[in-house]
Amino acid sequence: MPVVRGKDIEVLFSASTIARRNLELAKEIAAHEYTDLLVISVLKGSFIFAADLIRAMHDVDLSPEVEFIFISSYGAGTTSGEVRVLRDIENDVAGRDVLLIDDILESGKTLSFARNLMLDRGAKSCSIAVLLDKRMRRQTTLNADYVGFDCPDYFVVGYGMDVAHAFRELPFVGIVKGDA
Ligand code: IMP
Ligand code: MG
Repeated sequence: MPVVRGKDIEVLFSASTIARRNLELAKEIAAHEYTDLLVISVLKGSFIFAADLIRAMHDVDLSPEVEFIFISSYGAGTTSGEVRVLRDIENDVAGRDVLLIDDILESGKTLSFARNLMLDRGAKSCSIAVLLDKRMRRQTTLNADYVGFDCPDYFVVGYGMDVAHAFRELPFVGIVKGDA
């Protein structure tokens, strides 16, 4: 088991498993024949997944424009979850096919908010790609169009995801064992 910062990390999804799945997701996205595709990476957690997924998209001849939105959700897993835009995208989404990329879909509050925001701004469509789906945690009717893996109900880290700002750099998705 890898040891990072003195903690044992159990590998849930390895780097090679994720890379294979990213290529499959890119092919699923390509099959939809979006026009003028605008990919929006939801920061911070999705930055590594988005970076790998857009390169997989290149491998299947997609050339999306890429933007970033920094969204913060307080108590996302609770009924009081409030979502705010901390840093917005720079371009107009009106009339465009938008693909939001995020790390985990849990309650669905973060991505429901982001999707409604893009549709309110006149996006032609707004699809959602997530690396991990914790379906058992859903509190909205939202579902993702592209899902990397169904995720068991553990707090996971790595591949962009953190606990208390740590472990984003891990090349795999894992679970911190012990007291972290
Ligand atoms: P929700 O779908 O609005 O409840 O929130 C999903 C967001 O919560 C994700 O984008 C992550 O930022 C965060 N999150 C949920 N579960 C985990 C986890 O296991 N590890 C790290 N972040 C998580
Ligand atoms: Mg997030």
